[in-house]
Amino acid sequence: MHSDKRASLLIKNARQLITMSGPVPRIGPQMNELGLIENGGLAACGDEIIAVGKSDEVERQTQLAENCVVIDAGGGVVTPGLIDPHTHPVFSMTREMEFEMRTLGKTYEEIAAAGGGIRASVRDLRTTPKEIIMDKTRKRLDRLLKHGVTTAEAKSGYGLTTESELMQLEIIKELNSSHPLELVPTFLGAHEVPDEYQSDRSKYIEIIINEMLPVVAERKLAEFCDIFCEENVYNIDESNKIQTAARKLGLKLKFHADELKSTGGAELAASLKATSADHLVYISDTGIKALAAAGTVATLLPGTSFSLRSKQYAPARRLIEAGAIVALATDCNPGSSYSEHFPFMASLAALNMRLTAAEAISAMTVNAACAVGREKSAGRLECGLPADIVIWDMEDYRELPYHYAVNLVSQVIKNGKLVVEN
Ligand code: NIG
Ligand code: FE
Repeated sequence: MHSDKRASLLIKNARQLITMSGPVPRIGPQMNELGLIENGGLAACGDEIIAVGKSDEVERQTQLAENCVVIDAGGGVVTPGLIDPHTHPVFSMTREMEFEMRTLGKTYEEIAAAGGGIRASVRDLRTTPKEIIMDKTRKRLDRLLKHGVTTAEAKSGYGLTTESELMQLEIIKELNSSHPLELVPTFLGAHEVPDEYQSDRSKYIEIIINEMLPVVAERKLAEFCDIFCEENVYNIDESNKIQTAARKLGLKLKFHADELKSTGGAELAASLKATSADHLVYISDTGIKALAAAGTVATLLPGTSFSLRSKQYAPARRLIEAGAIVALATDCNPGSSYSEHFPFMASLAALNMRLTAAEAISAMTVNAACAVGREKSAGRLECGLPADIVIWDMEDYRELPYHYAVNLVSQVIKNGKLVVEN
């Protein structure tokens, strides 16, 4: 814990300092291990954590720089910055009319078949100026940050032409350098088949493989390639073809899999050694075993089941028991889950997937870091790691799922800098 460096940030008097120090990823019963220090404190020099321990010891052993920012956690809870490993934040038009249609009894698939859904967002994005989309995306990142998210994955997927997909990835790149929230970019050209290729889908797949993927890879605009692998969107053969091409170009893989029906998407993700398979509401038993064996993260999105008015939630307990790596995410998007309230996902996970508060926190920190390839740098409070920290206005971490749908974030620190004071 000793360091010769002078602290530029000191956080003291955390009733519960949740470090998440310990195994990475957290599997099975390990998900309940929080690396909790009572009356904890932490010091950082610049963007790096230099001391973690009991508050009085950290204070005694750390030299403060002249302009050191000292935050008294006031007996609250301190956690690592949260990591949201699945978002679609780059869009303009919102789709509240579809939400109301669901209220009145229509399903997500019926609305999409009637001209709504992803393709409605695509029509809108293609005719909206980049600056407008950028401003709206920035506001969504602000809201994520205010809810404790310091790193988020962000997908394209609402343009479905080479030009408009690149435009979304450029927005992600520009916001990544100008906004405190750190973004992990994902190319999702296979989010849907656009209107103009409905009768010639193989032509669109060819464009993804021969036109879009090579420029995305060459210009390093994405770390991951994702696909909506689902009946009536991209089937298993098509998904295999596109994702194999993406991997050859050096992109890591993600899948939207088994969201609306069981199609074997999880099995395919595991066989291609994808970093994550997401949704998994209808995952099969073989899919569960395959993910666990492959070390492919199962990223679960309870906000989507909630917002689609589905009674079905992903089988989190079975995944945990099988030894799969379980993460949580918002799936923030205009159709199936419009929310930047990541902590609320812990409430939904507790009530509908039976995750304990500790399991949910593991799923939103260390395990979420694994889902975005940041397991070495994010999701834990340890010396030498970046100082991404949330200070919560609660006395016990179990309040996170329990005190639902209110924002209990008091301060957020990204790379050692105070970026949110609620
Ligand atoms: O993760 N399933 C595909 N994509 C999103 C929905 C996108 C939309 O409806 O705009 C999802 O649920
Ligand atoms: Fe999604």
